[in-house]
Order: sequence, then structure tokens, then C-alpha cells
Amino acid sequence: MSNWPKWLPLREQLRPLTPYGAPQVPAAARLNTNENPYGPSKKLAAAIANRIEEVSENLNRYPDRDALKLRQGLADYLEKQSNVKLSTENIWAANGSNEILQSIFLAFGSNKALGFVPSYSMHPLIGKVANVEWVEGARNSDFTLNLSKALEQISTNKPALTFITSPNNPTGSAVTISVIEELAKATAEIDGLLIVDEAYAEFSQQKSAITLIEKYPNVLVSRTMSKAFAFAGARLGYLAANKIVIDAIQLVRLPYHLSALTQAAAEVALEFQDELLAEVAKLAKDRDKLAKNLQELGLKVIPSDANFILFSGFKVSSNQLWQELLADGVLIRDVGLPGYLRVTIGNDAENQIFLKAIEKALKGAL
Ligand SMILES: Cc1ncc(COP(=O)(O)O)c(C=O)c1O
Repeated sequence: MSNWPKWLPLREQLRPLTPYGAPQVPAAARLNTNENPYGPSKKLAAAIANRIEEVSENLNRYPDRDALKLRQGLADYLEKQSNVKLSTENIWAANGSNEILQSIFLAFGSNKALGFVPSYSMHPLIGKVANVEWVEGARNSDFTLNLSKALEQISTNKPALTFITSPNNPTGSAVTISVIEELAKATAEIDGLLIVDEAYAEFSQQKSAITLIEKYPNVLVSRTMSKAFAFAGARLGYLAANKIVIDAIQLVRLPYHLSALTQAAAEVALEFQDELLAEVAKLAKDRDKLAKNLQELGLKVIPSDANFILFSGFKVSSNQLWQELLADGVLIRDVGLPGYLRVTIGNDAENQIFLKAIEKALKGAL
């Protein structure tokens, strides 16, 4: 809605915005929001239910405001993944990494924010809501990061916040740790923070930016349990950073923001990390297979390190192909890049439904 009535004292900067709204419509294959297709095992679901039952006896009380047990579990998990010694003091947890990103804007958005587009659309949107000026940095035409240009944009704009998403959404490509280190140095020189959005890190072979936190206290790494842990419905995101950063985030957190139920469920999911990460390995394999299948259909695929693929090379418009697939029961994502569409890796059946539908749609249209 853009025609807000005059009587409504809506903040000026919100008037032109549209809320986030990926379609939530029924489809035989729902492959549009980079969810993990594998729901929790019966054992995990039962373990969550048991823990929730225990916790429910104390729901008259506020939850642990500092979520210490959960933060310890997250620190242990990241330590195992990245070989970096971390404690609860380096971790913050919230209702999805979107809340983490919002907290970062609220606490540190003292000046502009810079991001390299196309990237995660919520970075500018959350920034605008938090009244932080957004500077659009450019990428190469193949969507890879242009490091020298990025460094130049950092030094000329001097943003308080610079965002890099690796693996990037919607392109799927990751940047190397040496590129991230260059960005960390450049942002440190202007007293800015580098926010590395690693929502899809577990699907990638690249080294995590968590390995830079000790040397570069201005590096913040945002993570989520929504993707690798197949936990999107539970809403659990987290931040790994220098202790001072975590201390400052406390200034903007709402009291008792993370419910006792969420904390309990996430603690149990962490106990099942080996089981959940085995599915990540399968999804990464299936991604590579699906990329090959799409190429065999004559499509162009951007190499992906995430649980989705951005593809192009079809002759009809993105919207037309998107509509045709939806009519065939396949919901993928039109990310607003003309000539491109993004598909999330599903389970075997969903991937087959998608492949069949796209083959049919492309017949005569390539
Ligand atoms: C790059 C990126 N960051 C953050 C998020 C937010 O995830 P959540 O709020 O579910 O943790 C997403 C979700 O798709 C994403 O793609």
C-alpha cells in the first residue's frame, strides 16, 4: 500500500516501503524461501516436545533473559565448526537472524550502511526501517564481488555498517576468507563494522568469518538455525562477535525477547546437530546434481555454495516462467532480477517435480 491516509502518523521513511512478502501459497513443490525440505526426525520432534513440556511448567516466569544455556550450546557448536575458541560472551541469540540484523542496525546504525547488490533484500529494508541511509554498492556483471570497487566504496562512503553475505542470497556464490579479511581491514580503517551474513554457511566449503573475530573486533557474523538446522519455524538466529559488540547489543534488546519455548527447542536441536548436518551434506550434493540437470536443459547456472540455485538462459520473462511453473504446482522465487529465477533445493520428489515442470515450460521457449 503506498496511499496511506493523511491522518495516519506513519513515519515518512516508511511510506514508500512494501513489507517483506514472499508468497506463501500451496504448491506440490514449495521451493521459494530457501527452507530445508527435511522436517525434524520423529526422535527430534519427540525430544523437543518433552523439553517443551518440562519448560511449560514454569511459563508463569519470564525466560532466562540472557539465554545462557542456549548461547553456550551455540558457542560450542561454532567452536566445533570453525576451530575458534568462543564463549557465551561472544554469542547473542534472537528470534531469527532478521532480529539479529535489526539489532545491529538499532545499535550501530550511527551513519550509512553499505551493501553490494544483489544481495539479501532485508538488509536495506531493515536499514530503512531503522532510519539508516542505505548505500547500494555494485557487483561485477556476473554478480561476483568487485573487491577493489568495494574497498573504494568503503573508503569514500565511510559507512558505519558494511554488509557482505556469504554465500550470497540470491546468487549462491561465496567469497573467500581472504576477501572478507580485506573488507575487515578496510572497514576497521574507517571505524566501521563489517557484518558477514552467513545464513547459508553450513552449505559452503569456504572458511567462516568467525575465524577473523579475534583479529578484527569489528567483524560481526550473523548466523541462523533456519536453514542448516531445518528450524525456520522455530525462529532462532544468532550473532558471533567480539564481547564488546555483544555487550552493546544488550542496549537495544527487548526484555525477555527470546521465549523459554524457543530457547528450549533450540537447545534440543543443537543436541541433534550431527543428524541435522548429515542432511546438509545431502542437500549440497543434490544442489550440484540439480545444477547439472539445469545446465543439461540449456540453462545457465551460477555456481552455488548455498541450498538454492540462481539460473538464467530462458527466453520468456522471469515472471512468465515463474507463473507457468506455479500453474504446474511448483513455487520458486522471482527475485526481481530480469532474466533470472531462484530455486531452493527440495527433497528428491520436489526436485523431480521441479525438473519435469521446467522441462515442460522450456519446450519451445528456449
Ligand atoms: C542471507 C539471509 N540472511 C538472513 C536470513 C533470515 O533468516 P532467519 O530470520 O530465518 O534467521 C535469510 C533468510 O532467507 C537470508 O537469506
